[in-house]
Amino acid sequence: MIRKSINKIKAIKKRIINEILPLYCYKSNFMASLYYFMFSEAFRRENKAVLAGKVKHINESKVDKANYFLLVRNIHRIEKGLLMRPKRSIFAKDYIVETVDSYIGIISKEITVNPQIDWFTDVLDTYFKEIGKDSLIDEQKERYFNFRSAYNVGVLDNSCETLKIPYRRKRELMPEISYEDFFLLNKYRRSVRWFLEKPVPRELIDKAILVANQAPSACNRQPYEYYIIDDPELVKKAVKLPMGTTGYSHSIQTFIVVVGNLDAYFDERDRHIIYIDASLANMSLMLALETLGLGSVPINWPDIEIRERKMEKFLKLNSYQRPIMCLGVGFPDPEGMVAFSEKRDLNQIRRYI
Ligand SMILES: Cc1cc2nc3c(=O)[nH]c(=O)nc-3n(C[C@H](O)[C@H](O)[C@H](O)COP(=O)(O)O)c2cc1C
Repeated sequence: MIRKSINKIKAIKKRIINEILPLYCYKSNFMASLYYFMFSEAFRRENKAVLAGKVKHINESKVDKANYFLLVRNIHRIEKGLLMRPKRSIFAKDYIVETVDSYIGIISKEITVNPQIDWFTDVLDTYFKEIGKDSLIDEQKERYFNFRSAYNVGVLDNSCETLKIPYRRKRELMPEISYEDFFLLNKYRRSVRWFLEKPVPRELIDKAILVANQAPSACNRQPYEYYIIDDPELVKKAVKLPMGTTGYSHSIQTFIVVVGNLDAYFDERDRHIIYIDASLANMSLMLALETLGLGSVPINWPDIEIRERKMEKFLKLNSYQRPIMCLGVGFPDPEGMVAFSEKRDLNQIRRYI
């Protein structure tokens, strides 16, 4: 009797929180914030991760003076300055100090070979060569070139054709892929849930990721990483972490978790970019897998406390990292079917304003 009453009260409380309060709280920012503060934990993990990322980002820029994401973003901004029409004689003045700080900070401690270091160097060389006279910029130029010669970074010669600086694309380098072929590749790709029991060579996964790596990303920061699980025992555990793999999880050969790094940003305004950038890359990844004879199924990552904790532990994630989505990969079983998944009509998804 008492248990019954308790359950009844719980059900009423749940209904008030989920169905009645939202009707009133959605109407103002304040009420919406109050609602999520008092009655729902839905955004708490994300809030914490966003803050953790922001703190790491700010510490790396202001304290360590070696922030990789900041350096990538600013080099990107300088490239835009270099290709601007008309080009301004002075630009990037407000962020050149932090850029040189991070360049010096990163290169002083970077031990791995990294093609982006050449890019940073070539762009900064060109910037300092082409920029107009300004006392602050001149100071940074001296600091930069002193460091460059002390550390012997790259060659002090930018006459070479392969410099990683803005360039005019050569039309003849455009690959011959017709619209029809590209359309067909996209139409051929369907979410594959039945795979042959055959390991996927890592070289193929790497090749597909190299394609994903070419995707656009805001300020070229690429705030995501691919965590690949291909050990059969680990795959068995990993495929159970999301919710949407019921019935076919055993068929997945390689499991990928796409993880976003919120330390790429100094401001909350950019918190969604991890999802946007990763999704753009993931589409390229899935298409590339098809060209390599592989199939894939994108798998939703739900923001549910217990699952998030398990994934965090499984992948040893940091507080500023968020799983974005997962992918099941394998060689498609020719006997397995795919859903037809008819798409919306053109008129349903576009409107010219
Ligand atoms: C973000 C995202 C999450 C998805 N989550 C799942 C999932 O959890 N389980 C599943 O079987 N399919 C999942 N899918 C696959 C979709 O069901 C599938 O893309 C959709 O039905 C269209 O079919 P198609 O991919 O064959 O064109 C997901 C797709 C996306 C893009």
